[in-house]
Amino acid sequence: MEITKICCIGAGYVGGPTMAVIAQKCPHIQVTVVDLNEERIAAWNDKDTANIPIYEPGLDKIVSEARGRNLFFSTDVEKAIDEAQIIFISVNTPTKTYGKGKGMAADLKYIELCARQIARVAKDNKIVVEKSTLPVRTAEAIKSILDNTGNGVQFQILSNPEFLAEGTAVSDLLQPDRILIGGDTTAEGKKAIEALVAVYSNWVPADKILTTNVWSSELSKLTANAFLAQRISSINAMSELCEKTGADVNEVAKAIGMDSRIGSKFLKASVGFGGSCFQKDILNLVYIAKTYGLHEVADYWEQVIIMNDHQKRRFSSRIVQTLYNTVSGKKITFLGWAFKKDTNDTRESAAIYVADDLINEHANIAVYDPKVSNKKIMDDLNYLETRNAEQNANSVSSFSDPYEACQNAHAIAILTEWDEFTQYDWQKIYDSMQKPAFIFDGRNVLNAAELRGIGFVYQAIGS
Ligand code: NAD
Ligand code: UGA
Repeated sequence: MEITKICCIGAGYVGGPTMAVIAQKCPHIQVTVVDLNEERIAAWNDKDTANIPIYEPGLDKIVSEARGRNLFFSTDVEKAIDEAQIIFISVNTPTKTYGKGKGMAADLKYIELCARQIARVAKDNKIVVEKSTLPVRTAEAIKSILDNTGNGVQFQILSNPEFLAEGTAVSDLLQPDRILIGGDTTAEGKKAIEALVAVYSNWVPADKILTTNVWSSELSKLTANAFLAQRISSINAMSELCEKTGADVNEVAKAIGMDSRIGSKFLKASVGFGGSCFQKDILNLVYIAKTYGLHEVADYWEQVIIMNDHQKRRFSSRIVQTLYNTVSGKKITFLGWAFKKDTNDTRESAAIYVADDLINEHANIAVYDPKVSNKKIMDDLNYLETRNAEQNANSVSSFSDPYEACQNAHAIAILTEWDEFTQYDWQKIYDSMQKPAFIFDGRNVLNAAELRGIGFVYQAIGS
């Protein structure tokens, strides 16, 4: 079957960039991305691609090239489902906040709604692709809904998890390490897999397209995120030991990373990992292991999260301790709020939790982030429900100029590794601050010797 029409339900951080790249690389395929969120779709359709809702380096150019040609953004979900041969489901799968599995299991209500809608609308055979990250064996549930509520048409379910990282989404999509496609081992299943392989083959070399059974594919995604997060918790655990022993975590990371069996990537000690997925996916894995009675497996992976929470809390405690055990009434400037550089995404950012701790200690937080709005910052804090919105607003202010944000501050905390922070006139910042002027570098990005030379009291992670 030659694929000419694709739709994707969910125009978020995954659906938007993934479909934009498919459309760019496959001009013969019409790609429609749909979402219930009208504001988000309007932003994707904004004439000025600088205003698309997701900031990713290079994404605006790809959207400019393909949008209106073979890439469309719409709120008409039913029409898109009806017309498409392949339907990607790329909706959010957050941690459940209620009921059984609360705080651990993935909330699959949005996935189920999509499945029911596809079943209701589809009048011919469809390939349904799980793009969202899902618990192993979700395809079974989707298949059951489709087969029992549909119009008698045939559905093939594929698992095609996404491995892009935010901030590098475009290059990750253009040159993926691998594309993983899981499907049924029946003849129809194989045909569906081939159809999706053909789409990716427009730009991905054949040896990078891996096909497996559905369950391996679903579980590989959770496993990949668990392994990646585990590396960060491992190096962060060593960072605390480095601080006690005189070792330097950057040197340790370099030394172990040169062992080709360990590898040098993902060994950057930090204030703790954030982002919408690592914590959610590991909790989901822990929950799955528990439901199978695998308590040792569950405890093993849960420790990655426990370590990460500890690393965030440790950072705020160190600030309080160093500032003579009180930050009450002191201005503390956060450089960065996003969970990593080159994204406007703040979900689960360490900055949120560090700020929350410091507000509990009555600090005044000033924030500068090149891509995050004041509204987003306040929404993030209010979502925690530690205190009311008015109290948060009284404790936090945000600035569009970093020098203004740092003026009169007692301390600066680096929460995101934005490149521009290394380019600042640090002498000018020092001159405008309270003395002694402290810097807590939660990302180990600044030049310690230069800053100490200026007169800063500079503290990094793990040294
Ligand atoms: P997101 O919240 O940015 O986007 C999801 C979108 O789906 C939202 O815009 C929402 O309005 C829409 N939606 C929800 N239910 C819908 C429905 N019934 N009909 C139409 N639209 C609906 O989420 P995201 O970051 O893009 O993540 C999506 C999935 O991809 C998650 O499972 C996540 O774990 C996974 N993932 C995310 C990343 C990442 O970097 N963010 C990377 C790999 C995988
Ligand atoms: C991560 C994975 O890298 C992707 O492969 C995956 O597709 C995605 O999750 C997902 O499933 O959502 P992402 O969260 O976007 O991508 O970004 P990462 O680069 O993995 O960074 C995650 C967090 O870890 C960030 O807060 C980052 O600052 C932190 N980090 C990363 C470190 O503290 N140290 C490191 O060495 C690397």
